[in-house]
Amino acid sequence: MSLRLLVTGGEGQLGREFADLAVDAVRCGHAELDITDPASIRAALVRYQPHAIINAAAYTAVDRAESEREAAFAINATGPGLLAQAAAAAGIPLLHVSTDYVFAGDKPVGEAWCETDACAPRSVYGQSKLAGEQAALAACPRAFVLRTSWVFGRYGNNFAKTMLRLAAERDELRVVGDQHGCPTHAGDIAATLVRAAEALVAGTLAPGIYHYAGAPACTWHGFATAVIEQGHARGLLARLPLVHPIATHEYPVAAPRPANSVLDCSKLQLALGIPSADWHNGLNKLLDYLS
Ligand SMILES: NC(=O)c1ccc[n+]([C@@H]2O[C@H](COP(=O)([O-])OP(=O)(O)OC[C@H]3O[C@@H](n4cnc5c(N)ncnc54)[C@H](OP(=O)(O)O)[C@@H]3O)[C@@H](O)[C@H]2O)c1
Repeated sequence: MSLRLLVTGGEGQLGREFADLAVDAVRCGHAELDITDPASIRAALVRYQPHAIINAAAYTAVDRAESEREAAFAINATGPGLLAQAAAAAGIPLLHVSTDYVFAGDKPVGEAWCETDACAPRSVYGQSKLAGEQAALAACPRAFVLRTSWVFGRYGNNFAKTMLRLAAERDELRVVGDQHGCPTHAGDIAATLVRAAEALVAGTLAPGIYHYAGAPACTWHGFATAVIEQGHARGLLARLPLVHPIATHEYPVAAPRPANSVLDCSKLQLALGIPSADWHNGLNKLLDYLS
């Protein structure tokens, strides 16, 4: 039996990746399925009769969330709760995507965050995503929460694309060099969610919280340097700008970020046999697409 997946946020950076996989995934954009509207969720379930729901819809404007708390919580907390209720009523799993920003980020560099570590989000965005995890797990016995980090890919706006744009415009760039994390290719997350959905439907994967992120860990400065050097090597950038590492306090933003949000992904690797993908391969895919 081939699985039918219903993907919310189907026009977002992650949601669009499902179109490139050999899978029966119905991608619903915001206009068709508003996750804050129970009637809209019900209508999509009746129409598409999925075997599992994947929630890729979110409020992702991390800095704006500091001044739009209500909107962030409606989409990132209330929405997943409503999806979880609907999934539970339909007797199907909900796969919900969350973030490394649920952690405070105060572990020493070199250590990684496990699923059992205490959450203490430093931003409204992180708080709203943590509330969404809790709402999903409380309302749906088959809820699967996948925390991921530093997402990039061909669709939508992301850090890698921004670095390529800035590198084409400037001779020198200043990029934060004291925040550590794991860049993750959106296509790898989508493929992992499909594998997890298959295992959840088959009953071979336990619901709960799991981490999935790319490897190796690096800083934003390290990631930017790789993006720009590879972009230049492929002829996407005419010249190679200097990339200077700066401290977090030298780049003031509204929302505080974790200093170390590296995710330990061994639980998922053990459960599903999916190791963290090397983000350099994902970067190559993005650069192939842009070439
Ligand atoms: N981007 C990252 O670096 C990152 C890092 C860690 C975790 N994540 C998580 O990964 C997931 C996917 O993120 P992404 O990068 O793909 O985000 P994205 O590109 O911003 O996509 C989110 C999508 O959700 C839609 N949406 C917003 N409100 C909605 C609602 N009420 N009902 C239905 N759809 C709604 C948006 O549509 P409109 O634009 O039309 O509103 C947008 O298409 C999210 O859960 C995010 O928290 C992302």
